[in-house]
Amino acid sequence: MLSFIHGGDSRHTTQALPSRFHAQPPGSMTNTSHPNITVHVSSQCKSPEEREKLLANQRFGSVFSDHMVTIRWVDGAWQQGELSAYGPLTLSPATSTLHYGQAIFEGLKAYRHSDGKIVTFRPEMNARRFAASARRLAMPELPEERFIEAIDALVQQDRAWVPSAPGTSLYLRPLMFAAEASLGVKPANEYIMVLFASPVGAYFASGSAPVKLWVTDEHVRAAPHGTGAAKCAGNYAASLLAQAEAKEKGCDQVLYLDAIQRKYVEELGGMNFFAVLRAGQSARLVTPDLKSGTLLAGVTRDSILRLAKDLGYSVEERPISLDELRSAYADGSLQEAFACGTAAVITAIGSITGKFGAIKLNEKQSGPITDALYQELYGIQAGTKPDRYNWLRRIC
Ligand SMILES: Cc1ncc(COP(=O)(O)O)c(C=O)c1O
Repeated sequence: MLSFIHGGDSRHTTQALPSRFHAQPPGSMTNTSHPNITVHVSSQCKSPEEREKLLANQRFGSVFSDHMVTIRWVDGAWQQGELSAYGPLTLSPATSTLHYGQAIFEGLKAYRHSDGKIVTFRPEMNARRFAASARRLAMPELPEERFIEAIDALVQQDRAWVPSAPGTSLYLRPLMFAAEASLGVKPANEYIMVLFASPVGAYFASGSAPVKLWVTDEHVRAAPHGTGAAKCAGNYAASLLAQAEAKEKGCDQVLYLDAIQRKYVEELGGMNFFAVLRAGQSARLVTPDLKSGTLLAGVTRDSILRLAKDLGYSVEERPISLDELRSAYADGSLQEAFACGTAAVITAIGSITGKFGAIKLNEKQSGPITDALYQELYGIQAGTKPDRYNWLRRIC
């Protein structure tokens, strides 16, 4: 059992309906470009002044836009979605996700270009990964077109929340959880997909300064045949203790090793890992391959692999041992390392520390290849470089 408390009573909205909306029951409407979502415009949208204040002054992920989308799965089918005021969900204490953690999520961004256009970046990849995560957790798959429709509808409705300053964007958070109120350990008979949005700037409090990594030998993130390749809530809950250990050691993030041999670097708690061996045009970019099924297949990782080749660097997807990184550091061939993901885009790694000792890279600033890749990728996202792979989806 689940009910929604909406931030405003949308049935009493007095807002004029744009012409693309069909009239429906009082206060609700559907839009020809997203027919599977009924829109209830909030009567409590922030004023432009309130919104500007919130956009100017916030920590990553702490401010939310006016609306959200919810789509229920009941009776074996996805129902008509609802776009309504952003607000709390009320859950029965027996809701199975609270006990057994059948919960998945995604993260992607909408960008405002200098000509006012608003775009998302490769949303179909997030849609497919959302479906793959659902499969792994025995949850129903939301069809790709319903995922994209929800994103389009929310971004269109809350377009005023897409910030325009360089490095800023509207972070979109789709999630799905088991909503059945039942203590049985089994797939639920009801699920809810929720999508909401948060205007964001830099992910790390340190802005673009290189991050310090801690290699944990106490904890592992994911084991073969486990859930490492799925973006499920439990993976992140299980990472928090190691993250606290990293902080204690004066580091920002954890770099995980493989669960079996504790020898190969895998990824960070929320980002993929790249090392740059050798400098200039003979540079090689190396990143762990995905064959073990223990890593999350990042959209940013995939994009960087493509762009690095275009910039003339060779790329290798293969196992990388910590020993290899240490000897490349010792002989000077390890030039740079960086982490990548939607939230932080590309972030230079300043140091890698663990019981083995420390690898110290550019501790103060990012290296030239990290920078070049950032400029290329962020340039496409922000509309200052040509979108040669058709990665951008125009929303409005
Ligand atoms: C564990 C993990 N690895 C890698 C990534 C990077 O993925 P993406 O580039 O799709 O954001 C993320 C973030 O989603 C993550 O949580």
